[in-house]
Amino acid sequence: MMNLCRLVIVFFMLLIVGCQTDPVPDPISDSLNFKVDSVLRLMTLEEKIGQMNQYNGFWNVTGPSPKKGAAQLKYKHLEAGLVGSMLNVRGVENVKAVQKIAVEKTRLGIPLIIGFDVIHGYKTLTPIPLAEAASWDLDAIKNSAKNAALEASAAGINWTFAPMVDISRDARWGRVMEGAGEDPYLGSLIAKARVQGFQGEDLSDAITIVACAKHFAGYGFAEAGRDYNTVDVGMSTLYNIIFPPFIAATKAGVRTYMNSFNELNGIPATGNAFLQREVLKGAWGFDGFIVSDWDSAGEMVAHGYAKDDKHAAELAVNAGSDMDMESYTFVTYMKELVEEGKVKESYVNDAARRILKVKFELGLFDNPYKYCDVNREREVTGSEELHKASLDIAKKSIVLLKNENQLLPLKKEGLNIAVIGDLANDKTSPLGSWRIAAEDKTAISVLEGLKSYEKNNITFAPGPKLALGNPTFTQEVQVNTSDKSGFKEAVRAAKNKDVVIMVLGEHGFQSGEARSRSNLKLPGLQQELLEAVYKVNKNIVLVLMNGRPLAINWADKNVPSIIEAWQLGSQSGNAIAQVLYGDYNPSGKLPMTFPKNVGQVPIYYNYKNTGRPLKENPNDVFHSHYQDVSNSPLYPFGYGLSYTSFSYKDLELSAKTLTKDSSIVASVTVTNTGKYFGKEVVQLYIRDLVGSRTRPVKELKGFEMISLNPGESKVVQFTIDAKMLQFYTAQNKWEAEFGDFTVFIGESSAKSLEANFSLSK
Ligand code: BGC
Repeated sequence: MMNLCRLVIVFFMLLIVGCQTDPVPDPISDSLNFKVDSVLRLMTLEEKIGQMNQYNGFWNVTGPSPKKGAAQLKYKHLEAGLVGSMLNVRGVENVKAVQKIAVEKTRLGIPLIIGFDVIHGYKTLTPIPLAEAASWDLDAIKNSAKNAALEASAAGINWTFAPMVDISRDARWGRVMEGAGEDPYLGSLIAKARVQGFQGEDLSDAITIVACAKHFAGYGFAEAGRDYNTVDVGMSTLYNIIFPPFIAATKAGVRTYMNSFNELNGIPATGNAFLQREVLKGAWGFDGFIVSDWDSAGEMVAHGYAKDDKHAAELAVNAGSDMDMESYTFVTYMKELVEEGKVKESYVNDAARRILKVKFELGLFDNPYKYCDVNREREVTGSEELHKASLDIAKKSIVLLKNENQLLPLKKEGLNIAVIGDLANDKTSPLGSWRIAAEDKTAISVLEGLKSYEKNNITFAPGPKLALGNPTFTQEVQVNTSDKSGFKEAVRAAKNKDVVIMVLGEHGFQSGEARSRSNLKLPGLQQELLEAVYKVNKNIVLVLMNGRPLAINWADKNVPSIIEAWQLGSQSGNAIAQVLYGDYNPSGKLPMTFPKNVGQVPIYYNYKNTGRPLKENPNDVFHSHYQDVSNSPLYPFGYGLSYTSFSYKDLELSAKTLTKDSSIVASVTVTNTGKYFGKEVVQLYIRDLVGSRTRPVKELKGFEMISLNPGESKVVQFTIDAKMLQFYTAQNKWEAEFGDFTVFIGESSAKSLEANFSLSK
């Protein structure tokens, strides 16, 4: 404690002197900056560089540890004050142990910031982020992040590497599970909700944690959907599609950013001064700090951008990276680089200042052990409230894709049901990827959920195994394509049942980091199993469990009812059962387009018209199309059914002309025309007909979730103003251009009413 006390006394002395000489226009931030500078003045160059160094703990590894003998070196560096942060150290006891070294053994006693991938919950898991995005329920999403922060902070963690706000249009990319889908508008609102959920109102509160907007930038546009691959996108896509969720996160006050593994237009993101210095810290005024992705500084050597590790460190810091995750390059070479004049000392000062500032904001200097309360850890971890909240958002995340002849909801008694599929009994896959703190086999399986409705009779037959062995986070999933045992039994179980519930999809580790696929069909033997069962019983409810959009044409054509149940976390099976039995009427809408086949990918609703759009006459060959599949998706963005039905009518605009200072109200009447109470996400899209850069055929600009009883109607109104029409124009400015627009209001990006208006002087 000695060192910490000494530090605190020095602060106060400096604080008094500072207060006497400086006028203070913004007392809080001035005093914060003053405290930071006071500490900075006490630090040696090496100690400042130490703040820029982040090490992985010795408990979990999210990637290859680049050096041998790392543990001893890390320990030595910790004691020497050469570590500013650790990741993957979790649990009060472990965190306390490393924090104690930083606080009690180092010269200045500067506390560590403790990072972890709290992506969809900590131990109590909520649905994967893509699934949560399907809820379109911003309050529920914010609450989910708030609960994740609550549980993680009780385990000693004060910084999450979330939200991932990368837009992606490519279902092959395994990390689509971690984002909010394909749309920049929905993605921006969700980015804001998640940042606010994690960080709360007050970062110094022990139940909130620092958020991290990642991966800056373009990571979701990896060529061919192959993770870590090259990204080459133009200014229009960068500014109009990729940047908006990052801008929203910045405006919401996100305190950290992570750069990314990919190169962007020839320059690796970690060494990209345009992204980090010019855009983020410059134009957007971001005053938090940027952490590199795992070894992404060192990886610039493999990219062919840096000639060696030392050069990589130079490029990274000069480009604006503040903290290095596990490449060891800053801690090894930065002092030399500064002494040689290759990196300005002011850059090191700036990076250390940014990092210290966030530590002050967390209140770590007041109490470095504030996240280390064993009693709170015991009470909060896995609490009933957390499970209740997880169940709530899990139900909201389910999307009903098809429901012919109202096969769903199921009757609660008197049915003979066959439940088929290896995933039905799986208590691990529903946890999804990025669930490092959750134990295997802790999810409620679909079978368990269904069995809680006791008055029906259930026969379970797993069919063939989906994966061979027991894949782990660091292993490739070996999909079973040959062992057909269980096939016959499954078909036998399906015969003469009232309903067959087939639970098919992806293993929990088939999506996530480094889990790209070149094929979007049901993996392994599952399609064959589905068709074999269909031959003996057509009354199938297909429950899909997957981390990305899948191409399920055959099922869409033949199977009467399909629900998209993603990977819903700890309460998965309960949520699915409640939806199947109608205790919750599904209200989710797809945040990402489902293709008909992988060849259509990238496929997205806000595409450009091209000079040769689709022609009515199929014999006219010279237009933008495929010979073997239509341009339309299997299920469009924004699509999702309900057990009830809704009608849309009377789209009206309060005026036909808008000026830069006025607004128009667009209204529509939505009626529940079915038998059940239900929720509907009413969606507003706009098309800008002519632009200085070509404009998408439509863009989501607003939505509202309404609840309606059978027979009830509501008038839903949206206010349209010029700000809503802004885009990054050919003049490289965010502005709305005069001209004509079409407004669409409806139940999805593909089904809506239309009206026209113009923006004029
Ligand atoms: C991922 C990041 C993650 C980091 C730390 C990397 O491999 O790309 O998103 O936050 O590991 O676990």
